[in-house]
Amino acid sequence: MGKRRRHTACVDCFRITGGRPLEGEVRASGSKNAGLPLLAACLLGEGDWAFSRVPRLKDIDTMRLLLGRLGAGSCHGEDPDQVLLHVPASLETEAPYDIVRRMRASIAVLGPLLARVGRAVVPLPGGCVLGTRPIDIHLRGMEALGAKVELQHGVVHAQAPVGGLRGARVNLLGPFGSTVLGTVNVLCAASLAHGSSRLEGAACEPEVVAVGEFLQAAGAKISGLGTAVVEIEGVSGLSPPASPWQLPADRIESGTLLLAAAMTSGRVRVTDCLPQELQALLDLLDQAGLPVTTGPDWMELDARGKRPQAVAVQTAAYPGFATDLQAQWLAVATQAEGISTVCEGVYPERFMHVPELLRLGAKIERDGAIARVHGPSALSGAPVLASDLRASAALVLAGLAAQGETVVRRVYHLDRGYQRLEQKLTPLGAEVRREVDEERP
Ligand code: EPZ
Repeated sequence: MGKRRRHTACVDCFRITGGRPLEGEVRASGSKNAGLPLLAACLLGEGDWAFSRVPRLKDIDTMRLLLGRLGAGSCHGEDPDQVLLHVPASLETEAPYDIVRRMRASIAVLGPLLARVGRAVVPLPGGCVLGTRPIDIHLRGMEALGAKVELQHGVVHAQAPVGGLRGARVNLLGPFGSTVLGTVNVLCAASLAHGSSRLEGAACEPEVVAVGEFLQAAGAKISGLGTAVVEIEGVSGLSPPASPWQLPADRIESGTLLLAAAMTSGRVRVTDCLPQELQALLDLLDQAGLPVTTGPDWMELDARGKRPQAVAVQTAAYPGFATDLQAQWLAVATQAEGISTVCEGVYPERFMHVPELLRLGAKIERDGAIARVHGPSALSGAPVLASDLRASAALVLAGLAAQGETVVRRVYHLDRGYQRLEQKLTPLGAEVRREVDEERP
């Protein structure tokens, strides 16, 4: 009988010793969810594009890899937070499945490629742990602009009509409201279409506004950004803005860091952030009895000696409470007095963190898209498994409050969207160590 080979993979884990209130100041990084579509949008114009405050994240590396495969090579500038991207006159049009399957945001190349080259071949990203996550609205948008779209063997083939895309009226609403990346994709495509377009039911998320403002700086004619109706007058070409484009602060990272104070009854000031983009979170904390002090680019939560009170929340499109903060909020709710309810209004399945939080001693019942948290619970450290980006952040927060040692495994999920989170938490007094973990299947 042949010997079975044992495969092991070395991945990082976090070893957290919890129970200490965090205290101090921490700077927000640049936004992942603005950075990804901004990089993809550069495909719309030949030239040398430059960005500053780009977070050093796995997902940004994946987008750069994808753009490189399409012909647009990139490197860091003198400052490692700068990314310089060269977009040549001619581009490849086929996005490899090997990259698209790693990151759904790869779909953001569809609109730019179709508008600039007239053809785009992008594999369907498929579902993920958040649920089904279709891209039907993106495709409907491209069709409205005149493209022929076919799905063959799991791959989207989109072809612009002879003469290029044509401006149109596009409805971006789906069963769960609008779509962030769908809006960005159609916005990019319509920027180079002939004539005018009107996007109805457009997503109002700050990341959509960030991409729109960047396109404007590159020569696009867009109005209505940040509202549900965006109008675009197509132009014949876009070119890089005169100086490096700075990414805005990451509102989800900022919110997560603020919640570390709520979680540990500590005091945390987040600097270089945009508190106005987190109003729903600030209102929720206020309702929970933890008011946040804000300035134009900072916010501080002083939760020393305090516990949150249970509140009810539903995730929704911006300016509602962000689904990307739901897992972290659920972790905080384990420390709240009373029964908190969390209703997931964007991804009804996004509760992979619940079973792991239960392992740490949380009391949570799930009823479809609703989670009820009975608090407060004295969490106790345990080994837990990260399943996705925000779930990992929730487990780290829970580990910070748990007595004893928590080992969060598979932190590669966390590294997709948080720039070295342990290096931000340690100066605040957290005991978090990154270690190599040998995983056996
Ligand atoms: C963006 O994903 C973010 N990703 C997600 O961040 C975030 O959770 C999500 O917006 C919602 O805010 C990036 O920006 C890279 P959607 P996106 O299309 O654009 C349904 C994170 O943790 N829908 O706005 O792909 C969809 O299933 C992540 O950083 C359709 O039905 O999300 C969902 O229920 C993960 N058809 C809802 O709309 C479509 O064609 C909103 O999804 C498209 C979406």
